[in-house]
Formats: sequence, C-alpha cells, structure tokens
Amino acid sequence: MSASYEVRDGIAVITMNNPPVNGLGFANRVGIADGLGKAAADPAVQAVVLTGAGRAFSAGADITELDGPKALAEPNLLTLIKMVETSSKPVVAAIHSICMGGGLELALACQYRVASPGAQIGLPEVKIGVIPGAGGTQRLPRVLGVETAMNMIVTGEPVKSELLASLPGQKLIDKMIDGDLMAGATAFARGVAAVRPLPSVRDLKVKHPNPDAYVQFVRNMVKGMSKNFPAPLACVEAVAASLKAKTLDDGIAEELRIFKGILLSPEARALRHAFFGERAASKIPDVPESTPQREIKAVGVIGAGTMGGGITMNFLNAGIPVTMLEMKQDALDRGVATIRKNYEAQVKKGKLKQDKYEQRMALLTTTLSYDDLKAADLIIEAVFEEIGVKETVFKTLDAIAKPGAILASNTSTLDVNKIAHFTKRPQDVVGMHFFSPANVMKLLEVVRGADTAKDVLATVMTVAKKIKKTAVVSGVCDGFIGNRMIEQYSRQAGFLLDEGCTPSQVDKAIEKFGFAMGPFRMGDLAGNDIGWAIRKRRAVEYANLKYSKTADLLCELGRFGQKTQAGWYDYQAGKRDAIPSAVVEQMVVDHRKELGITPRKISDEEIVQRLVYALVNEAAHILEEGIANKASDIDMIYLTGYGFPLFRGGPLCYADTVGLYNVVLTMNRFAQNPLDDAAFWKPAPLLAKLAAEGKSFT
Ligand code: NAI
Repeated sequence: MSASYEVRDGIAVITMNNPPVNGLGFANRVGIADGLGKAAADPAVQAVVLTGAGRAFSAGADITELDGPKALAEPNLLTLIKMVETSSKPVVAAIHSICMGGGLELALACQYRVASPGAQIGLPEVKIGVIPGAGGTQRLPRVLGVETAMNMIVTGEPVKSELLASLPGQKLIDKMIDGDLMAGATAFARGVAAVRPLPSVRDLKVKHPNPDAYVQFVRNMVKGMSKNFPAPLACVEAVAASLKAKTLDDGIAEELRIFKGILLSPEARALRHAFFGERAASKIPDVPESTPQREIKAVGVIGAGTMGGGITMNFLNAGIPVTMLEMKQDALDRGVATIRKNYEAQVKKGKLKQDKYEQRMALLTTTLSYDDLKAADLIIEAVFEEIGVKETVFKTLDAIAKPGAILASNTSTLDVNKIAHFTKRPQDVVGMHFFSPANVMKLLEVVRGADTAKDVLATVMTVAKKIKKTAVVSGVCDGFIGNRMIEQYSRQAGFLLDEGCTPSQVDKAIEKFGFAMGPFRMGDLAGNDIGWAIRKRRAVEYANLKYSKTADLLCELGRFGQKTQAGWYDYQAGKRDAIPSAVVEQMVVDHRKELGITPRKISDEEIVQRLVYALVNEAAHILEEGIANKASDIDMIYLTGYGFPLFRGGPLCYADTVGLYNVVLTMNRFAQNPLDDAAFWKPAPLLAKLAAEGKSFT
C-alpha cells in the first residue's frame, strides 16, 4: 500500500498508508516521495502536511520487508529524510497514535511537528539489538536535550506526546492539537507557510554542562545493566557522538559506523530472530488467517490445583468469565484462596488496583456440577495426570458441553489423540499445555491432535493472544516439543554426574552460558518427584533407554526439592538459596563407585555443549517429523518457557551461530564416549543434511 496525496486549500496532505501501522515499506516510500515532488512542483501549494492513515503515524520500517531487497531500495528512508529536510516548502508532521523508529526519524527531518495527545513516540531499535540508523541518535538529542534522548534511545521505551511536549525547552513538538488533528495541522501549516528561513533540527546544538562526565556515568550504568547485550552501549556511544560531532552530518556518519558494526552481531541476530519468531509462531502453514473462528465468551476450567488456578487467572485478567469445577468443595475453596492470595500479592506490590482485583474476582464462578459448564465456549481440563481420570472427564464433557465448544486438555505427557477419542467430537479437542506458574509463564504449547479442526486451532491461537501468551503449535508426541527436548538435556545432566561433575558444577556452567537456571536447581524448584513419577509410569517404555540412576536415588532419599527443603541442594526454611549438599555429593560418588567409573575433570565447555546440543539434536528430529512447523517455533518455546538465554536466540539459532558443521563434529566426538549414549549422538538426519550442505536451521 502506498501513500495518498491531495491538496486542501493550498496545503498538500501526504497520508502514509500501509496497514496496520504504516510501516515505511517500498510502496509507501515511493508514495511519500511522489507526494513531495508534486507539492514542490505545484505553485498553488504553500506547505505540506505529512501524516498516517488509520492506527499510526508510522511505526517505522516495514517488518515484512526488513531482510529483503526492498528494504534499502530507493527511495530509501535516508533519501526521503533528505527530501523532506531540503524541501523548499515547510513540511509539518501530523503525529498521532504511534510514531516510532524510522517514523520518528522521518518526522524529525520535517520543519515542524504537531501531535495529538496520547501518541506513543520512541526509538525502539535497541529492542531488536541495533541502534536507530537514520539520524535518530543525532536529531532526537537536538530537540529533547541529550539526557531525555539518551533515556529514550537506550531503553527503547516510547513516551507519550503530551509528556514530551511539557518538557521545558523541548523542540520536538511545536503544537499539541486536541480534537481534529488534520484540521489543526493544516491550520498550523497555513500559519507557518510564509515563515523564512525554514527552521531545521539540523541547526540546533546539543549541549551538556559536563559532557564527558555525563557520558562516562551513563556508560558505566548501562554496561552494568545490559551484560550480554551490546546494543544499549552502542546507543550510548551514538548519542554521545551527538555531543562531540562538529556537524549533524559528522554525527550521522558516526551513527552509521556504529550501526553497521552492530547489525551483524550474534546478539542482534538473536533478538531479531526472537522478534520475528514471536510473530511467526501464530502463523500455521495450513490454517490461513481468514479461517473462521469460534466465539469465546465464557470459559470452564476443570481442576483448581496448581495449574487450574493459574489458567483461570489468565482469563480473569483478560476480562473473560470463568467457571471453575472441582470434585470437592474444599479443593475449590483452596483453589480460590490461592487465586486471591496471588492477586493480593499484586495489590500489595502496587501492580494491581484494588478495584481491578475485585472486578476480576467477580468474573469467577465455582461449581461442583458439570451442568454449570453447559454454556462454556472453551473448557480446559487440568485434573490429575492419569489417563483414567482424563477419560472420565472427557466422556462427561462430551455428554454436557454445547455443540461447538472447544475441549482442551492441559496434559503434559498424555496422548492428546487418545483423549480426543474419549469423545465423539475429536475435531473439537486440542491440547493447551500451559507452563507453571500458568499465570506468569508466557509459553503455551497448543497441541494439535490428528483430528483437531482448523477453526479450533485458529480460535485457540487468538485466545492465546488475548491472554497474552506466546502460543506455539506442536504435534502429538511424547512430551510435545519442549519436554521432549528437555528429557534429552536432563539425561545428559545425569550422565555428567556419573562421569565426574557435581550438580552445582553443571548448573554453574550452563547458568554462565546464560540459562536462567541449571537443570538441578530447576529440578528442585519444580519438584524432583514429578519426573520420578513419570519415569516410574513409563518404566516399561524406558526399559532399554540408558539414563543415570542418580535422580531416582535422590527421590528415594525423599529429597524432592525446595518443598522438602532438600533436593539436589540443601535449603534453609523459607529460603530459596541452593546450598551444595554433602549428602548428595556423597550419593553421587557412591553411585559412581558402584558403576566402577573413575571420575574425570569435565570442562564447562563440554558441559554446555552436551546439554545444548542434546536439545539441538532432539529439535532436529522434531522438525523433521513435522511435530514443529518451523525452527523458530522451537526457539520461541525455549526462550519463553525454558529460560534459554535471549541473547543466544534459542537452541537452533545458537546452533546456527556455532555452525552446524561444528555441532555435528562435536556430536560425533561425544558418540565415542562409552559412558554416554552413542545412539543418541548420531546426528538427526535433518541436522546431518543441513550441515553437509552448509545450510542452517533458521
Ligand atoms: P494438581 O494435583 O495440583 O491439581 C489437580 C486438581 O484436579 C486437584 O485439585 C484435584 O482435586 C482436581 N481433580 C482431579 N480429578 C478431578 C475430576 N475428575 N474432576 C474435577 N477435578 C478433579 O495438579 P496440577 O499440577 O495442577 O496438574 C494438572 C494437569 O496439568 C496435569 O495434567 C498435569 O500434567 C498438567 N500440567 C502440570 C504442570 C505443573 O507444572 N504442575 C505443567 C503443565 C501441565
């Protein structure tokens, strides 16, 4: 979509038009350039107003074109900025709704800017690992002063127009316009049409009473806060250049130099991968966006335990009424009390207003009777993880739920296809695998059964957005995507203990790599008994699978984790600090002796490679089997649900950074280790193929 042009009473109006947020895509840029050309050539035009149609002035670069050839095709953003800046007639930016990134850089080149209240103004480039690259770091300090501009650019956070307009001495917004923005903007343009010389941000100076000390202070602060991310510090250096450079053009040249230096950094690549991965996750190849959807106005949740309560909160937070069902009144009461406790903690911290809390609780109904779920459009089951219990629940739901109601299971290990066939409507059944705590964790695995209808999937993806989750589709397999991969990671963690590591050595190494928590601290948090129970249930299937017995031995000692104040680590009452345990270390040593293993010193590098490449190899199988639709879906699961470091972009993005050839080479070496599982380390066919062809996952 392009920009439109019209002349209203001597004022040319150029309206950017590229829904949803007027990204500065190629067609839009051509339209703006054409408009500027026409306005310059028409003697009847005295001034120009530049604005955006619909929901934004402009949100900047068009993300659909970002890495393609059109991104830099002429007229590119720098050319447009030059055209606006050198216009012989004043150009007035009429800013509303969203004015960010390249949109703001374009507005800064205009001779004047007027704005509606409530417009979000910012330079968010840092969030995708880069710096503003079209003069933003040089022009924003000129209009807002270096300190305000520095804050905005380093954090990437937008600021409301009225707040910026109220800053003393600011030159960003010439006039705030309440009411009809276009009427106000054209009137303003008419008022300044004859003013000469034309004003320009170029002529403003950036000043600070103590520039060197100020920049050093910011540098130190940002360095401490942005450890693994180079972009915030690069923003500091670029803004600092606005203080040092003799002219705007010198500053812009420095900005460009810094921009180019950071654009291809692994961290910038990882952040862009995550940014696009998040958007791509909601797209399902064979479920077009036009798929009709079912209306979800009322939700039922079965089970008010750990998961049921958290799941319920998601919907209450989004203003969707929930009926929560349990077997016994005391279980219901406990569930409601936990929900209240969670909300009250938020109120106490000032994160939730009391009246909002009450509004949310008013949306909650509890019941012991399935009759009360008859009106629900979506029913999510979070009862005990036993197939017999699920069978009873789904057969009952089949009998009472209204036609077209979506029936979802939160199961983490059971077969969703089997569950679907407890009903006579398998097309309406889907897995909604939330992560604990369900009211906090962003990830939702949407498990697509063999019969799940497309409109059910499309609806669940929309619902996920409403409750602010990152939803990723998984096919049906043991553990779905996330837990199937973590199983291999945990197995490696166990082998590492058998071969010579302590739990804290393994945790420290992977936490240094960037994981939020190592496998043993994680086990203590989640409860080691959960995995134990799963292993026992699956003993038959697992009979031939090699795994370390240490986790079972730990559970036999009753060391379930934080909840028993003893797990892989020791814990003090009421505290979460993991203290290395002499008991566990002795247990590991004794077990090693039993196995006749002579311990060896294992490097942090080997620990990280074994844990991460275990994820990578299993992910490659998952991709190949079509359980995941795309590599970025797998990475999103690990970034949002498993604490994988964002600056590494997820396991597959990381593997690409290392180089798949190198990953395969290392796996082949691990396969030689007699204490490891040689069969597992045989590279997945997809991984082997990509490596051999010099290709990558992402
Ligand atoms: P939980 O034991 O805390 O809660 C289960 C609740 O369901 C209990 O309150 C119980 O009274 C109720 N219940 C059992 N049978 C029922 C029935 N027939 N009708 C109504 N209510 C019934 O269990 P949790 O941890 O909440 O797990 C629930 C489900 O969520 C399981 O399928 C589990 O695999 C899954 N899940 C658990 C996660 C976790 O970290 N705890 C993470 C993701 C999924």
